[in-house]
Amino acid sequence: MNITPHDLHWRDAYKLMIGSILPRPIAFVSTIDSNGMANLAPFSFFTAICADPLMICFAPMRRGTDGCKKDTLVNIEATGEFVVNIVGEQIVEPMNETAAEFDPEVDEFQVTGLTPIPSELIRPYRVQESAIHMECVLHDILHFGDQPGAGSLVIGKVVMMHISDELYADGKIDMEKLLPIGRMAGQVYTRAASDTFILERKK
Ligand SMILES: Cc1cc2nc3c(=O)[nH]c(=O)nc-3n(C[C@H](O)[C@H](O)[C@H](O)COP(=O)(O)O)c2cc1C
Repeated sequence: MNITPHDLHWRDAYKLMIGSILPRPIAFVSTIDSNGMANLAPFSFFTAICADPLMICFAPMRRGTDGCKKDTLVNIEATGEFVVNIVGEQIVEPMNETAAEFDPEVDEFQVTGLTPIPSELIRPYRVQESAIHMECVLHDILHFGDQPGAGSLVIGKVVMMHISDELYADGKIDMEKLLPIGRMAGQVYTRAASDTFILERKK
């Protein structure tokens, strides 16, 4: 099967993409709007870039209905700051709740009962129930159109990391305690630490 993505409706191209690039970690992104109203939303188009400086990126798509920017993107453009909270098994339910399309004036911390705690260096809140928080300042945003199916790449510099003491040992993170999850296609998720294997790197 040879497929030119451009020939497909974007929703069909999207299905091929998310069915191929998996499992994906989830950035649970906390922002505030220009009035200080909090917002939380999950993004699985999320990855690391480099360590010095410590850079990460995630990609909010335009809304499928009208091509509008998602609240997270609007807030980051307004404030230049966001927190990436790492999603473990413990918080999958509230994480999922925040993915519903709430109006910008709805605070997803209140909807879910998750606890907002202040960041050290930036204004958006951290999610207390998450074991790892990355305080980020915006480096750059690349835009790829403004129609439904289009999206943007948000690149952030991590200026502060918070790691729960229970899963920090010898400068490393204990993944058995983190209980990381990955997003597959559609509504399927995977428990990333429960079926692992070792592959030795050749010299
Ligand atoms: C596990 C999960 C991962 C998601 N990943 C993305 C993503 O990478 N990009 C995206 O645009 N939307 C993604 N979504 C959907 C957004 O979370 C959803 O559109 C949300 O309403 C955006 O909120 P906001 O308008 O407050 O930014 C994901 C949803 C879930 C449940």
